[in-house]
Formats: sequence, C-alpha cells, structure tokens
Amino acid sequence: MKEKPKLTKLPQHVAIIMDGNGRWAKERGLPRLAGHRAGTENIRPVLEACVEYEVKILTLWAFSTENWRRPEKEVRGLMRLLRETIKRELQELHEQGVQLRHTGRLDRLSPSLQKQVREAIELTKDNDRIILNVAFDYGGRAEILAAVRRIIQDGVLPEQLDEALFSQYLYTAGLPDPDLIIRTSGEFRVSNFMIWQGAYAEYYITPTYWPAFDEEELYQALLDYSQRERRFGLTSSQLATQTSLI
Ligand code: FPP
Repeated sequence: MKEKPKLTKLPQHVAIIMDGNGRWAKERGLPRLAGHRAGTENIRPVLEACVEYEVKILTLWAFSTENWRRPEKEVRGLMRLLRETIKRELQELHEQGVQLRHTGRLDRLSPSLQKQVREAIELTKDNDRIILNVAFDYGGRAEILAAVRRIIQDGVLPEQLDEALFSQYLYTAGLPDPDLIIRTSGEFRVSNFMIWQGAYAEYYITPTYWPAFDEEELYQALLDYSQRERRFGLTSSQLATQTSLI
C-alpha cells in the first residue's frame, strides 16, 4: 500500500460546519432526523481521529440561531439528540480526557437541557486531552451583538477596546481562533459561522455529506491545510522573517 504523505503542519483548532445530514438521509429514502442521527454517530470517530492527529480543539456546529426556523418536529428532534448524546456519551468522554465546552446561547434551551449542558461542562472542565466545543444555538452576528452589549454594559471606553479585549467578550473567550474550518456537503458559504474568529482561518470544503465524513476525509483536509502557506496579510519574504506569527 502507498504510504500517506506526512502532515508537516497541524492545526491546533479545527472547526467543522457539519452540513448535509438532510441530503444524506434523502438519498437513502430516510427522514431528515435519521440523517441527524447518523451525523451524531459520526462525531465520536471524527473526535477520536482528531485525538490521533493531535488536534487540541474540535469545534462542531450542531445548531445555528437560524435552525429555530426549521419545522418544529426537526427542532425537537435535534434537542432530543443533544440530550440523548450527552446522557449516553458523557461518562466515556470524561474518562477519555475530553473537555466539553459550549459556544452559543444556552438560555433558549429547556431548563433541564441547560442544566445537563452546564453539568457536562463542569464535570469535564479539568480534562486536557482534547476540547470538544459544541456550537449549539450559535450564530456569529448574534455573538458579536451580545459582545457589544456587554462591552457597553461594562462601561469599556473606546480607547480601551482592542481586538484582544473584544475576543474576551465572545462565546469563545479563552480559546484560540480556528486554524482550519471544514465545511461538508459542498456549499461555499460561511453561513454566519465564527465570522470574527475565522478571519484568518483556512477553509476546506468537501462535497461529502457530514454522516459520511470519515477519518480519510479528515486526513485529506489536514493534508491540504499542511500544504498551505498562511500569510496573515504579509508577503512571503516578510513571513520568513516573522515566523512568530505563523
Ligand atoms: C446540517 O444538515 C446539519 C444540522 C442543521 C445539524 C447538525 C447536527 C448534528 C450532526 C447532530 C446534533 C448534534 C449533537 C451534538 C447532538 P442539514 O439538515 O442542513 O442538511 P441538508 O443541507 O442536506 O438539508
């Protein structure tokens, strides 16, 4: 068998827009929720592959602020999936050293689901093998507005505000920005995902639907990333002398 090329540069933070569950289900004559279920089952193998590749943070976008507008049955199904998944997987994730985080709004989830999410975060907060950051009821513009409101409430003066301080008001406070954002199912859109944090991210788009995105797909995305030159607005020769920025 041909040996796989080595990954010369690895992203610390990978974020995935898990798209295509509905189309995956439709192609199989299944209801949309079966696609979301298959998508949920795909999380563990991808998380384990990320651990193997020494990715330190995996962010998964599971529910957007716009997803509330989907049919009620689908919304209820997605809430149920989150509840069942935490219940079923939490102990094992904890034992495997996974730290769970949440990015987005919690206040619109049912009180019992909010409690479950908070308890999962509290239980796993000292784990350091990998951070699994679940973006649930997340939207980039809403996040920025929420940050601005709190900045005003805190009485921050215009001259005190810089990018580092602003970042501390985002849901992702304390996490480094994603280095690589993967979008499955072939859409070339940002769709309001991490619009601040993704400013310098590398994007990788694959036509594969999320439930079929496997370790080989992840490897291809990482290989593509490792072959790109991240310039952060600089020229190549400037970059060579400013390696601290890479
Ligand atoms: C997009 O596919 C996917 C979503 C809106 C939800 C993603 C959710 C999961 C993978 C499961 C829930 C997660 C947890 C953490 C329990 P789509 O429905 O837009 O697909 P389509 O574009 O093909 O219709």
